Amino acid sequence: MKKALVFFILVPIGMMISGLAYAQFARSEDAVAYRKSVMVVIAHHFGRIASVVKGDKAYEPKEVAQHADLVAVLSKLPWDAFMVPGTAGKTGMSKEALEQPDVFKTFAELLEKEAGLLSQAAAESNLQDIKVRFGSVGGSCKACHDKFRRR
Ligand code: HEC
Repeated sequence: MKKALVFFILVPIGMMISGLAYAQFARSEDAVAYRKSVMVVIAHHFGRIASVVKGDKAYEPKEVAQHADLVAVLSKLPWDAFMVPGTAGKTGMSKEALEQPDVFKTFAELLEKEAGLLSQAAAESNLQDIKVRFGSVGGSCKACHDKFRRR
């Protein structure tokens, strides 16, 4: 049942989203606003899982699964918006991101992969596994920020 759900619902949504993600931005400011907004929303839902992982909030499997699904779906969205010429070095993104698009893409794909695994652990209501996967997602945020985000 779960596999069927993933295949019939999430795969088409994923395909729609990857189609959308290739949409062009009319102005480079739009791309910057878009990518920052997606980051903020990812951080919000990831933070909601953080409070459970840290033990500040009781574990509600359904809620955590919803947040984890959102992180996984959102993590597929913003990458083209980072690769817009002229948008690096002025915002929170360093110039290196546009100079090393392949490295940037590797970090982006790492987050997508880890977020998928977190969402899987959450769907299985496995709190121990959720904690481990949460750590890996956080590590993938940090890896990219350390390299490509300006302070
Ligand atoms: C592949 C690289 C990459 C990954 C992975 C990544 N980020 Fe980011 N993030 C960036 C860059 C680059 C910026 C700066 C964007 C800008 O200012 O143009 C940023 C900015 C942000 C911001 C600030 C947004 C704002 O309003 O300025 C937040 C919050 C954030 N990221 C959270 C996260 C979280 C949480 C994760 C992991 C779940 C994550 N990011 C994963 C590259 C990444």
